[in-house]
Amino acid sequence: MNDAPIGVFDSGLGGLTVWSELRRRLPRESLLYYGDGKNCPYGDKTREQVTEAVDFAIRRLVDRGVKLIVVACNAATAMAIDHLRAAYPIPFVGLEPAVKPAALSSRSGVIGILATAATLRGKLFRETSRRYEDRVRIIARVGEGFVELVEQNRERTEEAYRRVERLLTPMIEAGADRIVLGCTHYPFL
Ligand code: DGL
Repeated sequence: MNDAPIGVFDSGLGGLTVWSELRRRLPRESLLYYGDGKNCPYGDKTREQVTEAVDFAIRRLVDRGVKLIVVACNAATAMAIDHLRAAYPIPFVGLEPAVKPAALSSRSGVIGILATAATLRGKLFRETSRRYEDRVRIIARVGEGFVELVEQNRERTEEAYRRVERLLTPMIEAGADRIVLGCTHYPFL
């Protein structure tokens, strides 16, 4: 077995939700985490800005000898994974919002997607949504301020509660029976 570490990358703390799942499922693997707190949040940045920041971080992980990198960030996957796969000779595993399982398991025919603006703009999300939109109604919204709340350790505050409620209530009233957390920061909320 190749005992080089697996790199786990996110714009900040959100990828720790993926890191802890990897830890549980692959207890023998060594994991190297890189959170790009300096450039977080990625959600409002252009493709060029995100690609530049991601490339800088990935190069650091590659220099440390990782054998594979999990891009534990939906926004970075949407904006930069094609570039990474072309630029580096190691495998990349990306993340995208779980539209398929939500669409296939919904009974009401309405699903809600929460993600950053960068993810919702991305080709991956648009193509996957198109594939399921004759089966379910998809209500996609940006979790405004969610990433900042998590990065600033304010995810259990009254403000966080109000922001989540403001976004979810209309989805639930519209009949959504599945809500997809399409950003690795959001499970902290
Ligand atoms: N955690 C990232 C994601 O999964 C994005 C957070 C950000 O906007 O930087 O999309």
